[in-house]
Amino acid sequence: MDVVICRTQADAEAFAARIIADAINAKPEFKLGLATGATMEGVYAVLSQMNKDGKVDFSQVRSWNLDEYVGLAPDHDQSYHYFMNKHLFSNINIDKRNTHLPDGLASDEEMEAARYDASIDEAGGLDLWLVGIGQTGHIGFNDPGTSFTSRTHVAYLTNTTYEQNKNYFTPPESMPRRAFTAGVGTVMDAKRVLQLITGKRKAAIAAATIEGPVTAMISSTALQFHENALIVLDEDAAADLKLKDFYKEVFENDPKWANYR
Ligand code: PGA
Repeated sequence: MDVVICRTQADAEAFAARIIADAINAKPEFKLGLATGATMEGVYAVLSQMNKDGKVDFSQVRSWNLDEYVGLAPDHDQSYHYFMNKHLFSNINIDKRNTHLPDGLASDEEMEAARYDASIDEAGGLDLWLVGIGQTGHIGFNDPGTSFTSRTHVAYLTNTTYEQNKNYFTPPESMPRRAFTAGVGTVMDAKRVLQLITGKRKAAIAAATIEGPVTAMISSTALQFHENALIVLDEDAAADLKLKDFYKEVFENDPKWANYR
């Protein structure tokens, strides 16, 4: 597990965007996993600008998102389809037919979940999955207790996640209580996982993710078992890390980060 601590939130967002852009430039037919949430908005703004400036080309990229609320149509302003179009897909030269999210309106939920996993498998698996983290340690909507081997499924959201997200909805009580989410196992199958954690309110869960015991009560701790996981934080989110100084020393001295310093 690689841990990189950036000075500010903007620096962390730009770092994550650069990792993605470099990976796409090295392999244009890139298969990219994506996430939604406030944390991602800055990353997508940087990637949109890089695309505009000709620094990264999405024309052959295919994408899969982590999750979508059950019951929301793609044009609902709180759907993750809408979020992705607004913050990324409409601003870059990706072919929208190559972008995938679970269908929140699917009548057969099990079939939709299986279809989603199959579409990733048929593509040969994802090269990199960009993920955030919720207050419960969830990746996607994999709240506490979700099996590390879980595949795409419909999850009933915990009260913490409901409280975290409901104020985006008008009225707040209209927030769906269930959502399609890629499973922990689905995310772990990606060749590389890039997790971005920013802000003071994420400091405790960041420390649990990186340095705590591995437990299904905190889905993100599964990343300790991923052979190619990179966690990027800002100083605020890194505040509770015991080995903070060591991670910084590695970044400053390890030749593998030479182009990023
Ligand atoms: P946030 O959400 O980026 O809005 O904090 C992340 C998440 O819940 O996974």
